[in-house]
Amino acid sequence: MKKPYLAAVFLLLLALLLPGCALEEEEDTLPLLILRYADNQPEDYPTTKAAEYFAQLMEERTHGKILIRVYPNGELGDENRVLEQVQFGGIDIARISMGTLSDYYPGIEVLALPYLYDDADHMWRVLDGEIGEEFLASSRQADVIGLSWFDAGARSFYTREPITCLEDLAGLKIRIQESDLMQRMVECLGAVPLKIQYGDVYSALQTGKIDGAENNWPSYESTGHFEAATYFLRDEHSRLPEMQVISTVALDKIAQIDEDYVTILKECAKECALYERELWKEREVEAEERVRELGVTVTELSAEELEKFREAVQPLYDSYPEEDQRIIDQIRNS
Ligand code: GCU
Repeated sequence: MKKPYLAAVFLLLLALLLPGCALEEEEDTLPLLILRYADNQPEDYPTTKAAEYFAQLMEERTHGKILIRVYPNGELGDENRVLEQVQFGGIDIARISMGTLSDYYPGIEVLALPYLYDDADHMWRVLDGEIGEEFLASSRQADVIGLSWFDAGARSFYTREPITCLEDLAGLKIRIQESDLMQRMVECLGAVPLKIQYGDVYSALQTGKIDGAENNWPSYESTGHFEAATYFLRDEHSRLPEMQVISTVALDKIAQIDEDYVTILKECAKECALYERELWKEREVEAEERVRELGVTVTELSAEELEKFREAVQPLYDSYPEEDQRIIDQIRNS
């Protein structure tokens, strides 16, 4: 009599324990936090791919405890609205162009001035150095936390009608980001700036609401702007790097779970940025090749003509106070 009784008790205990084990196991694999990451570029774009890589690294290194969900194509809103949401924690992470960021981050304009850098290497010496680190570290001034820099190449003008020199820009309506810096720059070059969100530029070009816009090769190609504005004036006026930012709310939440996860997040953000730079270089070449094949007319500028563009933006440089002039000199000498 004794043995069947014991067996029954054993089975009962087993039945009670098993679901418990399963539950514990399940709890162990559940994420503790899911972060929303906004990018206004399409899925196959260098920045978005790097964001996905960021998500993958985080999942691996936190063993699935902190997950990142990337929302491409501006699904979470246009860049300005996204940044404003990151400021109060409505969106956790975003990749923001310096053109947009400069209106929210006092002092950072000096990194985005026209004709500031000789080339991409020069820009990276600055951003990878003390100045770049300093601007990431002081980003709380913009109510966000800067994590790393992404490449976005050089921007040039493109128009519906042919333009080949500075004089041709006079009076043209040129779309710009919501950026006072870009507004002043375009005014210095004699054109009329119009602030329009990135997602609305295609139709503005098509309908003739604007005569042209300005951007880098991959954006010009991926948005299809080249279909409506087939003349590309390679003046490479601005290098606007991009910043990966996280909301202070999200970072505090992560720290509350485990301070180590904050360290991991910062490392992953830097690593994925290196990946983005590699992707960027390839995509820049591919995009240029593709639009050329599709019939875009590219005007290269002579050194003399380019000098006219540089001279035209000098008043912009002169408008900065001494404190900024010091940083500008430091950047130029880097
Ligand atoms: C680039 C940049 C975007 C930005 C856009 C613009 O494409 O990557 O983040 O929104 O320029 O001109 O608005």
